Parts: sequence; C-alpha cells; structure tokens
Amino acid sequence: MVEEGVNKFNKSVENDRGSWAGLGLKPAKTIYATIRKHKPETIIETGVCNGVSTLIILLALSKNEGGELYSIDFPMPADESLPEFRETAYPEGHAFSAIPADKEPGWIVPESLGDRWELVVGKSQRELPKLIRKFDEIDMFIHDLEHSHPCMMFEYELAWEWLRSDGLLLTDDIHFNDSFSIFCNVREPKLYGKMSNSTGYAVKT
Ligand SMILES: C[S@@+](CC[C@H](N)C(=O)[O-])C[C@H]1O[C@@H](n2cnc3c(N)ncnc32)[C@H](O)[C@@H]1O
Repeated sequence: MVEEGVNKFNKSVENDRGSWAGLGLKPAKTIYATIRKHKPETIIETGVCNGVSTLIILLALSKNEGGELYSIDFPMPADESLPEFRETAYPEGHAFSAIPADKEPGWIVPESLGDRWELVVGKSQRELPKLIRKFDEIDMFIHDLEHSHPCMMFEYELAWEWLRSDGLLLTDDIHFNDSFSIFCNVREPKLYGKMSNSTGYAVKT
C-alpha cells in the first residue's frame, strides 16, 4: 500500500512541489510491533500527510481488534498556490511535506481500515487542546508535524499531561532541534531513548 502510494505521489507531484515525508521503515515497524504488543486503546497522532504512520497504526489496531486512532493534520496540497501557502501557513522548521492536490490527508489508508480512525483537519495548536480534552487519558501519542521548538514543546507537554502512567510518547525528527532532550531532562520519563536516528520515545512514570 505504501509503495503504491509513493508511485502515485511521484506521478502527480513534481519534486519542487513538496515531498512524500512518510515515516521511515524502521520506526514504522517499531510502532507496529509496539501497538501489537501493548494494545493501546486510545492513540493520538499529529501529522498525517499522505498517511504512512496512520496506515501502520490502523493496520496494527485492526490486527489487535481493538483501539481507536485520532489524527490531526493541516495538509499542504501540492498545487499552484504553494509558494504563498508555504509562507503564510508553515512557520520555520516545516519540511514541505505535501499531498497531491486532489487528495485528502491519509489518502493511502484503505476504506476498510477507516472505522477505527477519526481525522481532524486543522492546525495542531488549535485542534490538539480541543481533541485531547475529550479523553480522561490517552495511551499513546505520536508527534510528526511542524518540528519547530515551540510546537514540539507544546505538543509534548500537552500529551504528557494526558498520557496515562506507562503511556508512550513517540516523536519523529528529534534531530531538528533540542526539544526532545530538553523535554526528557525536565520531565524525567520512566524510560526514554531513540527508536532510530530521528525517532524518540518516552514512557511516562
Ligand atoms: C512529516 S508530515 C507527516 C508524515 C506522516 N506522519 C507519515 O508518516 O506519512 C507532516 C504533516 O503535518 C502537517 N502540518 C505541519 N504543520 C502543522 C500544524 N501546525 N498543524 C497541523 N498539521 C501540520 C503537514 O502539512 C504534513 O501533512
């Protein structure tokens, strides 16, 4: 499904109009195995784009026969208005991830996996507080959007407050800045480290 998606993306999006930006194979496999093992009931992910991480999570939940995924994404369609759109909608640290102009976030996810998934379209800074407050607690949080220091700290701190004890925070692109190590130094997770060169994890005490 991912390979098919990449081929369709490459056919419809020129190189300078945005990148695929999907999660790498190693973190994707680790996330799948983690969800299969720990069977989280409530997962929130931020950053859907074409939908690699979303697909992996939903495949694992489907195999578990339990759990729900809530995702937030403010997509960047690869269309003619891109330069202006980039400047106004995407602050520093954004890597120009894009979806084909005629698609929705998570378009590679097959309909058959959709019954465990709710997508919220909008900026995380506005939508995450509203979404997370719908739950008493969450089991897993995955950050993969706007890797600016303010946005990463905002998401980590909010997710940490809502994560249950032993809940898991995962974050891609920790090499963009020091946000993840600062967060871990301050919050002192029970366990933390790297799943790959660019992906970090932290387990709440
Ligand atoms: C790196 S991509 C996500 C990749 C995805 N996790 C995957 O594995 O395919 C980041 C996505 O977040 C969106 N985005 C960037 N900043 C955002 C923000 N502040 N709020 C919501 N979405 C944002 C981008 O448009 C893009 O769709």
